[in-house]
Amino acid sequence: MNIAIINGPNLNLLGKREPEIYGNNTFESYFKQLQDKFPTHTLHYYQSNIEGEIIDKLHEVGFDFDGIVLNAAAYTHTSVGIGDAIKAIQTPVVEVHISNVYAREDFRTHSYISPHAKGIIVGFGLQGYDLAIASF
Ligand code: DQA
Repeated sequence: MNIAIINGPNLNLLGKREPEIYGNNTFESYFKQLQDKFPTHTLHYYQSNIEGEIIDKLHEVGFDFDGIVLNAAAYTHTSVGIGDAIKAIQTPVVEVHISNVYAREDFRTHSYISPHAKGIIVGFGLQGYDLAIASF
């Protein structure tokens, strides 16, 4: 099974960024654990701080991969373009957020991705990515 994990802006700083919210682990070290946990899956990891690059990656993987795990980070709350891209592709997308966005500022409760997602996993820390992969 081919699964793409796509992380949006500032998630390259996991481990350094607001550790009280996002934890102390880097995504790179967590990704190694994920690969060990899902040995029969081929996991691809992509991170970008640029909206258009995330859209390009969704187009690239969105017609022949089996699943996409997307944490669009702040673009979740602002990007009509990423929402439209998910609508345009065929591969199912599971939306993940490390933190419980519903327990934070009001602007984080709106998502342009959720209406087009297969499902949403929120607030379980990095374990949310495990749960998303297991759902495909
Ligand atoms: C986030 C939540 C977003 O509101 C925030 O902008 C992020 C990370 C999360 O994983 O909890 O950058 O998507």
